[in-house]
Amino acid sequence: MSYQSLFGGDILSADQFTKDNLSEIFATARKMKKLVLTKGSSDLLKGKIMTALFYEPSSRTFGSFITSMQRLGGGFIPIQGVAYSSVSKGESLGDTVRTFGSYSDIIVIRHSEVGAAKIAAEFSEKPVINAGDGVGEHPTQALLDIFTIYDSIGKIDGLTITMVGDLLNGRTIHSLSRLLTLYRNIHIHLVSPDLLRLPRELAKLLRERGIILDERESLDEVLFDTDVLYVTRVQKERFTDLTSYEKLKHKYIISTHTLEMMKKKSIVMHPFPRVGEIDLDVDLDHRAVYIREQMKNGMYVRMALLAMVLHKKA
Ligand code: NCD
Repeated sequence: MSYQSLFGGDILSADQFTKDNLSEIFATARKMKKLVLTKGSSDLLKGKIMTALFYEPSSRTFGSFITSMQRLGGGFIPIQGVAYSSVSKGESLGDTVRTFGSYSDIIVIRHSEVGAAKIAAEFSEKPVINAGDGVGEHPTQALLDIFTIYDSIGKIDGLTITMVGDLLNGRTIHSLSRLLTLYRNIHIHLVSPDLLRLPRELAKLLRERGIILDERESLDEVLFDTDVLYVTRVQKERFTDLTSYEKLKHKYIISTHTLEMMKKKSIVMHPFPRVGEIDLDVDLDHRAVYIREQMKNGMYVRMALLAMVLHKKA
């Protein structure tokens, strides 16, 4: 297989992908899954090094990128918590990125500011992957989310997706909704408190690109036709006023009662971490794919992306 479509490029926004890219990513992710389940690892990226430069906390994104590189035989420089790097001495993003670009072949960056990954890419000679830029985007999460939907339901066209929680600050929502515009006949129910509605420009853009979008505060009324319930946490770190965070954090709690109102063939997703939005009993339901499938797919998809960006197979 040729991996040329993403070779040597950056991954900055969900908007950069075409349907063809997605087919190639899905096919490669399936191969990676098979590789992990049969042999565990390979030496496809032997001699390649990835810098994981994380200015914000992370468990899954950081952990899955690191293990993806290891499973493909590559090495990594883990910078988790830049307090221990020269960033804490006041070094600029540009200098930091150029430094790690001189040691490694790819930079995966998470940062608290919107647009930081794009700025990093402008400074960097090496490909940059956006692992979350503040309240902006999280394109690799969107890819693993869409892969999970496709794998669980068998199609994306025609689905009704309900996104619930902090739609204003949730970057996984921002990227996933953009990616969904590549598909036909998509209906999105947006469910959030008024204060945490999806950014207006994004809602406008989704409608312009053909998504059928509606917005409301009540979840129950849209559960009956929901194929994918995508739950998010209220993003405490984005609040200046913690009293409103406390008021809103548990406005929506998914319970087995919620599932009773949903179709038998629907799925429940969450990018994690969850902080009380989904009851633990829900984990036992066959529709809960957030641990069984979604997390593992994060590794398969990130293995695929690293292979496709770093390895040009003729
Ligand atoms: C998300 C993130 O960092 O945006 N987590 C993740 O990468 N899986 C979601 C979140 O923090 O709520």
